[in-house]
Amino acid sequence: MTGLAPHEPNRNPPDLALASTAHWIAAVRAAESVRADSLFNDPWAAALAGTEGAQWLAGRSGRPALTVMAIRARLFDDFVQRATSTVVKQVVLVAAGFDTRGFRLQWPAGVRLFELDQPEVLDRKVRVLDAAGARPTCIRRAVGADLAGEWGAALVDAGFDSTAPSCWLLEGFLFYLPDEAVVRVLDEVTQLAVAGSQIGFDIANTVTLHHPLTRPWIDMQSQLGAPWLGTLDDPVGFLSARGWHATATQPGEPAANYGRWPYPVPPRQLADMPRHWFVTGTRL
Ligand SMILES: C[S@@+](CC[C@H](N)C(=O)[O-])C[C@H]1O[C@@H](n2cnc3c(N)ncnc32)[C@H](O)[C@@H]1O
Repeated sequence: MTGLAPHEPNRNPPDLALASTAHWIAAVRAAESVRADSLFNDPWAAALAGTEGAQWLAGRSGRPALTVMAIRARLFDDFVQRATSTVVKQVVLVAAGFDTRGFRLQWPAGVRLFELDQPEVLDRKVRVLDAAGARPTCIRRAVGADLAGEWGAALVDAGFDSTAPSCWLLEGFLFYLPDEAVVRVLDEVTQLAVAGSQIGFDIANTVTLHHPLTRPWIDMQSQLGAPWLGTLDDPVGFLSARGWHATATQPGEPAANYGRWPYPVPPRQLADMPRHWFVTGTRL
């Protein structure tokens, strides 16, 4: 299924500048897909990125953040595939943007994949994918919503079963929310996730917003209207307090390397270092 769910509770549309970030990430996936040593193949990424994504990427070659995004996409490909090889047959992409996992991955029979994002973003994605002849490889529902507001009811209205285990992915998203909205979104996910459910997301720590190593990236995001706001210094502890067993890894560590990280990895015991955590967890 493509097309938006009929019930769209988008009462407070977020700033559309955030939609640009979906173009940027798609451009990174397009560039990764044509590498000889690519970590995945996203055949629709270039069309989805469009001129906006291509122009953004052209000014940023060689930035470590681009490698972070490529590794992250592969790590979360592996995560959702692992999750759905078990009893989990519902996947929720929170802030799906131009993610094409519902089209480019092979899913076990019966997997239902829900995509939440701004209606305008989901509409454009469907238009581009339809024009390219792409077909979902699972049962796909797109749900337009303001993720900083109420969205759980719309997800359930679209067919999500909150009594069955689920897999949640929040990739490249949480840092665009203020801290209190990060907590609200993760609390909402926790409420909808029964025992055995899986969660994956990435988040930076507070030092990242100010550290000289990461400040140019942070400033670029602000200047382009999509500032990084929300952080978690201890995402594992945060999830643990909410009934999840979680682990966090940094780009370049063995679980998030794929032979593609050429930079030093800041040792965990070093204080006041910027951290970009890839977090995965299981609901207890
Ligand atoms: C950087 S993109 C990431 C998209 C996707 N997860 C990926 O990895 O390609 C961030 C996405 O968050 C969405 N977003 C940000 N704030 C939102 C909000 N309050 N409600 C709905 N979507 C939001 C944007 O529309 C955008 O598609």
